[in-house]
Amino acid sequence: MTYVTPFLTRVVLKNYKSIAASGVDLRALTFLVGPNGSGKSNFLDALRFTSDSLRSSLDNALRERGGIAEVRRRSGGHPTHFGIRLEFQLPSAMGHYAFKIGARPQGGYEVQTEECVILGPEGASFLVIAGEVREFELGGTRNGIAPPAALKDRLYLVNVSGVPKFRPVYDALSRMGFYSLNPDRIRDFQAPDSGELLVRDGSNLTSVLRQLSIRDEARKKRIEEYLSSIVPGVSGVDVKDVPPKATLEFRQEVAGSSDPWRFFAGNMSDGTVRALGILVALFQSQDSAALSVPLVGIEEPEVALHPAAVGALLDALREASQSTQVIVTTHSPDLLDSADIECELLLAVHAEKGTTQIAPVDEASREAVRKGLYTPGELLRLDQLRPDIKLFGPKSPKQLDLFDGAGL
Ligand SMILES: Nc1ncnc2c1ncn2[C@@H]1O[C@H](COP(=O)(O)OP(=O)(O)OP(=O)(O)O)[C@@H](O)[C@H]1O
Ligand SMILES: [Mg+2]
Repeated sequence: MTYVTPFLTRVVLKNYKSIAASGVDLRALTFLVGPNGSGKSNFLDALRFTSDSLRSSLDNALRERGGIAEVRRRSGGHPTHFGIRLEFQLPSAMGHYAFKIGARPQGGYEVQTEECVILGPEGASFLVIAGEVREFELGGTRNGIAPPAALKDRLYLVNVSGVPKFRPVYDALSRMGFYSLNPDRIRDFQAPDSGELLVRDGSNLTSVLRQLSIRDEARKKRIEEYLSSIVPGVSGVDVKDVPPKATLEFRQEVAGSSDPWRFFAGNMSDGTVRALGILVALFQSQDSAALSVPLVGIEEPEVALHPAAVGALLDALREASQSTQVIVTTHSPDLLDSADIECELLLAVHAEKGTTQIAPVDEASREAVRKGLYTPGELLRLDQLRPDIKLFGPKSPKQLDLFDGAGL
């Protein structure tokens, strides 16, 4: 299955880390820009939290982040819950998935409300409140399927992932990939896994690349083409078995030698292995349902790259975003220096007294870019990319609602 981009059309967050209440529309390619500590990674982490909770468990996702006290926003008002709403489009349907997790006074947490709505005549929906299934519709009828039981400390979407109507939603949300690549982990000899989804630090890159070489040679070639335009001289990369592990073997063209030299990952530069990690993250999605990836989020893809290589990185981000939604955080004016980057692709992030604001940039900046006076990169250098909350903020509180259900 190939996904339509953007997969996520809108994200609403409530009390997620530094984000008090935010609703933003996303494009096939979105750049998050803003000062250190403004909340860019927190925004991506909310999406990652959703896929982590679905792939492993809610308990695990919270524990990995230090518990609910660390995830819910700290503030004078002491919110005791946080919520996430993701509006999506799948090839067959549009809809949304939303949940609100609350801290319990006696300790621990519970799923206070969870709702999934798939629109259209073939639609389906469920609503669960505090462990009780209030609604469970499969296109007007239940087709004889009784709703599975709900548990207060689990996400119900996991329980219904065996119901065919909800399966595509579960698959897509649990197959979003988020990356903060670690060159050392990529250089390590890696234990093989199924290679279905690249993991956050790149530590199963060999397995993913192997899957790509077997199933989609053209995509692997594309990765190699981009790699050689980012890193001059490097012409390709293969997986080399070193039982029981595997590593990467790069081919490098050397003047005077008819055959390329071969280097193991352990001898390659930080920039080279990071660039490969980013390219594999971007182009890992394949047509087969089990291997398609609807969205990738990448933290600062420009790190360790020479400014001249950043143009090729931008081309790769753009090409990949035609089949996988791409969200990147960046501090790189070079990456945004291209005259044909529209401001519509940017989301500016700013922290106001510890509270994150996220929105498209203000009209003056957009106008300056439209008229060709500045590139977004130049505006970033001048610190002129600020979220325009007045213009793009919610027009009514309703736009920040997590749920559609009456009275929620
Ligand atoms: N539970 C929480 N409640 C309120 N604020 C929080 C919470 N957890 C983290 N923060 C704030 O979020 C900030 C970090 O935000 P984040 O990591 O998203 O920044 P960033 O924009 O990615 O910055 P950088 O560009 O440096 O990576 C912390 O400095 C902290 O102030
Ligand atoms: Mg960050």
